[in-house]
Amino acid sequence: MGEKIFVNDGWLFGCDFDDGFIGKASAEKFEEVRIPHTVTVTPFNAFSPKLYQKLSLYKKTFATEKSWSGKKVFVTVGAAAHFSKVYLNGKFLGDHRCGYTSFTFDLTENLLPEGQTNVLDIVVDSREDTDEMKDIPPFGNRIDYMTYGGIYREVFLEIKNPIYIEDIFVTTKKNQFSSTVKIAGLDGKKGFTIKQSVVPSVNAPVPVGANKNAPCFEINTGVPGNTVLTSALASGIGMWTLENPALYLLTTVLFDENGNEIDWVETRFGFRDIRFDSTGFYLNDKKIKIRGLNRHQSYPYVGYAMPKNMQRDDADILKYELGLNEVRTSHYPQSHHFIDRCDEIGLLVFTELPGWQHIGGEKWKDQSVENVKEMVVQYRNHPSIFMWGVRINESLDDDGFYRRTNEAARSLDPTRPTAGVRYLKHSSFLEDVYTFNDFSHTGKNPGALHKKDVTKSKGGYMISEYNGHMYPTKSFDDEAHRTEHAVRHANVLEAVSAYDEIAGASGWCAFDYNTHGDFGSGDYMCYHGVMDQFRNPKIAAQVYRSQGEPSVVGDVLAVTSAMNIGEYPGGEKGPAYILTNADSVRVSVDGIFIKEYKSSDTTFTHLKHGPILIDDCIGNRLIDEEGYSKKDSERIKKLVFAAQKYGLENLPFKYKMLGAFIYLFRKINMDKMVAIYGKYIGNWGGTANAWKFESFRDGKPVKTLVVCPGGNVSLRVDVSRTELFEETTYDVSPLRFSAVDENGNLQPYFQEAVSLRCEGDIELIGPSAVSFKGGLSGCYVKSKGKSGSGKLVITDWNGKEMSVEFKVSLGCGNA
Ligand code: GAL
Repeated sequence: MGEKIFVNDGWLFGCDFDDGFIGKASAEKFEEVRIPHTVTVTPFNAFSPKLYQKLSLYKKTFATEKSWSGKKVFVTVGAAAHFSKVYLNGKFLGDHRCGYTSFTFDLTENLLPEGQTNVLDIVVDSREDTDEMKDIPPFGNRIDYMTYGGIYREVFLEIKNPIYIEDIFVTTKKNQFSSTVKIAGLDGKKGFTIKQSVVPSVNAPVPVGANKNAPCFEINTGVPGNTVLTSALASGIGMWTLENPALYLLTTVLFDENGNEIDWVETRFGFRDIRFDSTGFYLNDKKIKIRGLNRHQSYPYVGYAMPKNMQRDDADILKYELGLNEVRTSHYPQSHHFIDRCDEIGLLVFTELPGWQHIGGEKWKDQSVENVKEMVVQYRNHPSIFMWGVRINESLDDDGFYRRTNEAARSLDPTRPTAGVRYLKHSSFLEDVYTFNDFSHTGKNPGALHKKDVTKSKGGYMISEYNGHMYPTKSFDDEAHRTEHAVRHANVLEAVSAYDEIAGASGWCAFDYNTHGDFGSGDYMCYHGVMDQFRNPKIAAQVYRSQGEPSVVGDVLAVTSAMNIGEYPGGEKGPAYILTNADSVRVSVDGIFIKEYKSSDTTFTHLKHGPILIDDCIGNRLIDEEGYSKKDSERIKKLVFAAQKYGLENLPFKYKMLGAFIYLFRKINMDKMVAIYGKYIGNWGGTANAWKFESFRDGKPVKTLVVCPGGNVSLRVDVSRTELFEETTYDVSPLRFSAVDENGNLQPYFQEAVSLRCEGDIELIGPSAVSFKGGLSGCYVKSKGKSGSGKLVITDWNGKEMSVEFKVSLGCGNA
């Protein structure tokens, strides 16, 4: 690997510059910044994309070290949005025209002599409307997401011998291991060898009594040319599965003709087989129904610029808080930190080339093909990636272009299927899997189309988006709206589970996101997430979470309603559902047992844990308190529940007949019925009810929820990490705030604010006061490059202070 030096600190950044700035060590009025960096800190919402559309200059100085003599020196930029020009000591080295893949330049020829200070300049263009940008995907037309600017993924230098390992690609089939090793600088030299060894890494089984570092197998082979192919049959290895994603570490060492070690590279991979066919998706021959969501990589205030742990947190949220088994990285390749974590926790990733609906001219298409190549080469060792998206999201057919993108992906990775996300039915099919954005669900019809109505193709079929703009939902929308949002997600999951020919679906989307003014709710925000921008859950999130196993997501028990009659027109509460992964839920009202619901008491029969409609709030009370017979009690309940659902005016005929029967034959008149309705359902003028939900698994109580009007609102703070660690750059920890009553229930209409203040070795990202939206809010704290400790002081709406202490430690990885 040679030496790897991260250079994320001490960059100078500015937007007011001319050509004369290039090559100079200092720059007037530039500020010192750390990478990941965003060109502008933006508000939470309601801002124009013009804010981040800038031409910027990033400048970094570094000395040539003595140890670099006779070596090659490279710089790699993880990602810079969107068009970058790179200069070393005033000399133009080249450009890069993709904001979502990394790029590397060879600095060797232009380095100054040992001890002298080099100047690396990177001009980064994030303006969307320049002539040049029109040839760079995704630009050239409208885009439903913000395309924030800046060097937002990490930068490092690599010092290598002139002959070095340039690339390694590992493939597996069952326990068969193969690798392709590319060696650069060989120039026909003979006598070189490589040695490879594979050891267990994350989650991988270690045979009893064996040393974890003892290799599972080793390969020693000569180097016949620039490319070396190796293979082995591994024994006793664990497969990469969703439940136990075993990872292995391959170390490849290159030796020269005298047996001297001249380079080494570590590659993490997993053994796994993936297959799609007309019956679905198979991982290691096990059929898996894909249940995922789409993720944009943006965050409040800093856009794309969030470091390692924030990226990893998102993967954890998708797997452990939403119970998903898949994520689509819409609409571009995302951080390796995110995908590394997906590898580690067993979360499938569908990644795709950058773009949104628009296909540009020939230069644009050439760039797009280039982007596919970069994506595949840079990401192909991640076992979690199961498919390459090689069509511009929702673009029209263009066979010539898409033959090229398919060919690019297949030639660089014959092991994974290609796919192309489209909204077109029966469109030209050049890929291996037909991926379709099925926005057919309106809340009133089935949740998905059948495959045969979308494509006659024989291969695999997957839904790549649903819901989204069909039902935007804010965490501060009224309860009926938020409930309908949850139900629509459940309806689609139900249909996808029911239709065998659908391999699975990735819904739109995980998190709310800032967007261009042509989309969104007028505040440059698409409220399409099942979580808000701070990753706070909306009630729809619980639909997903409740599909997860308790061992993965914990015990889930949520109710879609706060049971307040005043929330609904005429006091007539709409449908309310229990969302749980328990076996059963016992419900009582005001201390009186009403009903026990089993997990099978759902109309969503294809889901393991479908939403359970709360269809009774009376139980046996008409028998116990009013003295009716069991039969009459059932008749009366049927009628009053129908009256609640349809209103008296619109009672369907069969209920009118039931009413007539009750009146004529059971002698229960209208006044009595109205009184029963008023006491047990309408309750207008009565004391609000207290509902209690107790969930059970294996006969044991696991969770309790009490839902009734609260008296006090307090602040709940959930912090992901209180230890910040600077490994190769700064670290960030997210805090999620919710306003809850004394029973821990969210107060969705709470809108007050908290003020925030950092002390010590941490600082705040974003404003020093945040309001609650839908009873939810959040903030981020960031390390400052100093080890020590820090405190975030949160002052609530009553002036009460609460503090969260942080510890900061520094690694040694950053120059
Ligand atoms: C799709 C598109 C997504 C997003 C979504 C909103 O058409 O692919 O990027 O805009 O609609 O529902």
